[in-house]
Amino acid sequence: MGNPNSKRMTFFMVLNAVIIISFIYLSFSTKDILPQKQLHSVGTIPMSRRIKHNNKRNGLIRKEGNYPSSETSKQLEVKRASLLHSNIEAAPSFLAYSTQQPKSSKSLMKSQQNTMLSSINGSSSVLETSSEIPALPLLIPVLTRTVYEPGHLNEELDIKRICMDRGLFLRLLVLITSAQGHFMARMSIRQTWMHYASRRDVGMAFVLGRTTNATLNESINQENYMYGDMIRGNFIDSYFNLTLKTLSMLEWADKHCPLVKYILKTDDDMFVNVPRLLDFIDGHKDTRTIYGRLARRWKPVRSSKSKYFVSYKLYSGLQYPTFTTGPAYLLTGDIVPELYTKSLNTFYMQLEDVFITGIVSKSLEIKRLHATEFRNSRTSFLPCNIRKAISVHMIKPSEQYNLWKSLLDSSIKCK
Ligand SMILES: *[C@@H]1O[C@H](CO)[C@@H](O)[C@H](O)[C@H]1NC(C)=O
Ligand SMILES: *[C@@H]1O[C@H](CO)[C@@H](O)[C@H](O)[C@H]1NC(C)=O
Ligand SMILES: *[C@@H]1O[C@H](CO)[C@@H](O)[C@H](O)[C@H]1NC(C)=O
Ligand SMILES: *[C@@H]1O[C@H](CO)[C@@H](O)[C@H](O)[C@H]1NC(C)=O
Repeated sequence: MGNPNSKRMTFFMVLNAVIIISFIYLSFSTKDILPQKQLHSVGTIPMSRRIKHNNKRNGLIRKEGNYPSSETSKQLEVKRASLLHSNIEAAPSFLAYSTQQPKSSKSLMKSQQNTMLSSINGSSSVLETSSEIPALPLLIPVLTRTVYEPGHLNEELDIKRICMDRGLFLRLLVLITSAQGHFMARMSIRQTWMHYASRRDVGMAFVLGRTTNATLNESINQENYMYGDMIRGNFIDSYFNLTLKTLSMLEWADKHCPLVKYILKTDDDMFVNVPRLLDFIDGHKDTRTIYGRLARRWKPVRSSKSKYFVSYKLYSGLQYPTFTTGPAYLLTGDIVPELYTKSLNTFYMQLEDVFITGIVSKSLEIKRLHATEFRNSRTSFLPCNIRKAISVHMIKPSEQYNLWKSLLDSSIKCK
């Protein structure tokens, strides 16, 4: 101990450690600066979803019984809705889509109209309309495979962490659809419930599309370089392309994680109670099933002003097949390949949940089961409420931390 040599050694070792630590700290903090530039654009797509809920509550669109109607949350939503016009990504690409589509698919339309009538149930008035121009990207039914570009940008993806051995030991794969600009939302999820992805039997990743904005693209590259958890599909990321995002998710899972037992599809404005979800999985042994919040007998919106407008040409039935609402639903792993293939050969519809868990699942005779634990709406944040739920919708990035604490803090007691 008294040896002067060993004292000197200790001194130099400590000095070394200090230098290394400060170097690491500096390099990390400079890398983090870039993505934070996007703070202003956080919340674009979920905002439009919030409007959907607003409309629902006013009885304009669909009926959903248990939506909360507290005054404060209503005001909050109105405030957010007014921000919707700042959504730069969606508007221009939407216009491009709506003008391109009819040209490329005119001949397709004629040849496929008959098949369409027989495949989707409905009235014969379908053929009559032609002059109106609805405010939606797809004016004419086209097969999904004509608008979906397969493939992913998988560089930098930490596949070992997300789905090792093609999912052999994976009970649950959580795929979180996220919009390009939602850096804060992704960060708050990484710092809270995504923590469960460190378990051997749970994998998690975000699913995004492509952007033509080189600046945004570069900051997403940086973010993915740091975290390796962003699956990027080949479609342009926008609200009307959400169905393509779910397809991209199914394609990825089929290709890279075919052995996983369950897949949770969820969004970046959700809080997911992973332990509760794992308990749920343990208590259910169905195959070929989708669990979630069931929407029965919801009617297509026929007002062309609505975001949820669906023309008679696209869907002629009086009501949609029973589907599970989009914010979170759980698939058994066995249906992934057939859902993907069948979707590609079904007429495209931009309502992701109606399309995948309704129309396509019905034609494949996949069971859809209701589970009340999927709240899929903004509910009370009381800890005991959060602990009983599997998923809670419309969570702001900053709120993830409170919910995370409510979930884990053992000093908060529940009956
Ligand atoms: C078509 O409509 C009829 C009567 O409305 C209904 O009984 C039948 O189940 C429908 N078929 C499909 C495929 O939706
Ligand atoms: C975005 O980044 C990816 C990965 O580096 C690259 O392959 C792609 O060409 C980029 N796209 C644009 C529009 O810059
Ligand atoms: C591209 O993305 C950056 C960063 O999000 C944004 O500041 C810029 O306005 C975008 N450019 C265009 C043309 O949308
Ligand atoms: C949807 O994605 C397709 C394929 O990438 C693209 O051509 C189209 O412009 C996108 N539509 C919208 C509305 O962004």
